[in-house]
Amino acid sequence: MTETVLLVGGGGREHAIARAVADDCALYACASNRNPGIRRLADGFEAIEETDAEAVADYATAVGADLAVIGPESALEAGVADALDDVGVYAFGPQAEEARLETDKAYQRQFMDEESIPGCPDFEVFDDVEAACAYIDEYDGDLAVKPAGLTGGKGVKVIGDQVTDEEAKAYLRESDYDRIVLEERLVGEEFTIQAFVANGDLRTTPAVQDHKRAYEGDEGPNTGGMGSYSDTGRSLPFMAEGDYEAAIDVLDAVVGALPAYKGVLYGQFMLTADGPKVVEFNARFGDPEAMNTLPVLETPFLDVLTAARDDDPLPELSFSGEATVCKYAVPDGYPTDPDAGALIAVDEESAGDALLFYASVDERDDGLYTTTSRSFAVVGRGDSIAAAEAEAEAALSAAGDRVRIRHDIGTASLVERRIAHMDELRE
Ligand code: AMP
Ligand code: GLY
Repeated sequence: MTETVLLVGGGGREHAIARAVADDCALYACASNRNPGIRRLADGFEAIEETDAEAVADYATAVGADLAVIGPESALEAGVADALDDVGVYAFGPQAEEARLETDKAYQRQFMDEESIPGCPDFEVFDDVEAACAYIDEYDGDLAVKPAGLTGGKGVKVIGDQVTDEEAKAYLRESDYDRIVLEERLVGEEFTIQAFVANGDLRTTPAVQDHKRAYEGDEGPNTGGMGSYSDTGRSLPFMAEGDYEAAIDVLDAVVGALPAYKGVLYGQFMLTADGPKVVEFNARFGDPEAMNTLPVLETPFLDVLTAARDDDPLPELSFSGEATVCKYAVPDGYPTDPDAGALIAVDEESAGDALLFYASVDERDDGLYTTTSRSFAVVGRGDSIAAAEAEAEAALSAAGDRVRIRHDIGTASLVERRIAHMDELRE
């Protein structure tokens, strides 16, 4: 029987999900934007706000979906998984209650504390801005300042890294967040591990390192992510033996405490001198990290989805053993002053051996144009990070100068810097 799958969301991450399942199922998709890559792969597409739970559930019913995959966190927060489950369409994505692991950072830290999940930094939760500012004044050391709700990865300010004490306090006073988490600043190298979770099972994928800062050399404001890389094995070059396993122990403990959790569990870790600590959990694939992971997953992703739905053990995962480098092309000026309306000069053909994933583009009669968000990504694969990086760069050579790319992602010099940073911290 051919399964009918509904994909919710229209970014690069969802284009990667679409590519992972399209050959094995009848695929329908809905999103607020018209992603040309997803629309080409899907048997049907409907423009629907990802947060409109009722409309998504109606569309799932109308197309006869057997199961659904939810890409964006905004949809999880809005209860799209709950609405789909209610109409009998299995949603691979947690219900809103479990998605609080991502959507409410105060809950996330309190949950870690109460359930004794390893890797939790010291934290305090405030509902009063002046009390938070007083804590910043008193605290001996640097703090990370986090609004409790979703901010697209752009609301966190790290004292001693991006801002001073005074700037952090001014930021809190200017914003009107109703709950704020202040926590110990973690120092080290970040990495992501995404796991597939259902029926109490957890299956893990290779670690990925994302690059959040807008400019080369990790300068500039935070973004949704400018690109990412993974290595031929599960670990990354700056990680030591046992670090990957220590991070998996954290994810295992989360699933032990949340047996009803289903979907992707994404751990964002800071590898510190004392091992991996939790920066945050997300309740869905990372964007860009999904584009590193799904193209090297050899186990059909549809088999994971159907096993999850059918209450079966999740399949063991196999991977191709290739390294990957993903680089986003973003509008010039992104994220502060993005230049929308620039013609996009590359397509799936011109990308050659690299994979092209569309994110936010504006389709006009004469071609695709940038919007104010990330435009498209290319992913190179190879038998080393360097080979994957070269393949990604070859695909980007035609990208033109109206989009901006962090060319340093995946280069030998940046990877060496990560290794040297960890060596220095571990001394
Ligand atoms: P989040 O939205 O929690 O992922 O935070 C965004 C970014 O802020 C992370 O990817 C980190 O780079 C940084 N960050 C968050 N929490 C901390 C922390 N406790 N220490 C240092 N950096 C942090
Ligand atoms: N790449 C970070 C995220 O998806 O949240």
